[in-house]
Amino acid sequence: MIYVLGSINMDMVANVPYMPKSGETLSADKFYTNPGGKGANQAVAIAKLGGEVKMIGKVGNDAFGAPLKEHLSAFGVNVDFVTRAETNSGLAMIIVEKGDNRIILDKGSNYAITEKDVDEGLFDAKEGDVLVMQLEIPLEIVEYAARLAKSKNMTVVLNPAPAVKLNENLMQYVDIVAPNESEAEILTDTSPAGDVEIALTVKKLYALGAKRVIITLGGRGSVISEGQTITYIKPRKVKVVDTTSAGDTFIGAFVLKFAGGASAAEAANFASVASSVTITREGAANSIPTLKEVQEVIDREKC
Ligand code: RIB
Repeated sequence: MIYVLGSINMDMVANVPYMPKSGETLSADKFYTNPGGKGANQAVAIAKLGGEVKMIGKVGNDAFGAPLKEHLSAFGVNVDFVTRAETNSGLAMIIVEKGDNRIILDKGSNYAITEKDVDEGLFDAKEGDVLVMQLEIPLEIVEYAARLAKSKNMTVVLNPAPAVKLNENLMQYVDIVAPNESEAEILTDTSPAGDVEIALTVKKLYALGAKRVIITLGGRGSVISEGQTITYIKPRKVKVVDTTSAGDTFIGAFVLKFAGGASAAEAANFASVASSVTITREGAANSIPTLKEVQEVIDREKC
């Protein structure tokens, strides 16, 4: 079983022709709300790609709370441990300009998750199960959950997004750390710009305590590292509409395949194809492809 402990947000998205300057008022080309949150998106990716997944998280007591939970459930995510907090739901204000996004978060109910929620959500977790986390919930809860998961011999996957400096309190329990390039830079003070810098970034992530490293590099693809090896995964070239939740798709798809017995390189290749489909569509959880859609691309393009 795969468990995702993380954020559930309502995304408020404005597509803009350009980023407004300070003091400027700009009309959006388009505005819409849709369900997101890095935790929720990763859980939806696992479910849409055919996996069994339990989400542990909190929605708010506002008008968004119930629909956010229903949305997860409709995609096949187990929401038995998605509970309601006495505060507003997590919100993400997303500005999309030419496909790239900038995100501002209101933590809301995501910061109401407690150790008790983690205990209850992981009550039946056992050796070989996987716990996936990000950093849109309190860091001390992530640390607590990682420790608990390791005491049950689970595999712990950390997507350190949004990035903060991490110490060994957490990293000693992390099996796979999976930042994007800007998060990797915050964690290591090294930008993974070229091969030499990528090797150095990977080395520094190992020094933090990670046992395996994945770095997603946007349009440059991704790298995975196990032991001394670094493997490059080429990106699939597509027309980019919106990159929101591309990273979440990659993490969910990778974890699903890797937990199912694929090698890290095979899992990353599948994840790369899945996220390439996500970025051809608008939105967060809704833009994540199904297994059938990914398989069609793999069969058609032999990738
Ligand atoms: O990774 C994309 C997600 O980040 C969005 O859905 C938004 O909610 C923020 O959490």
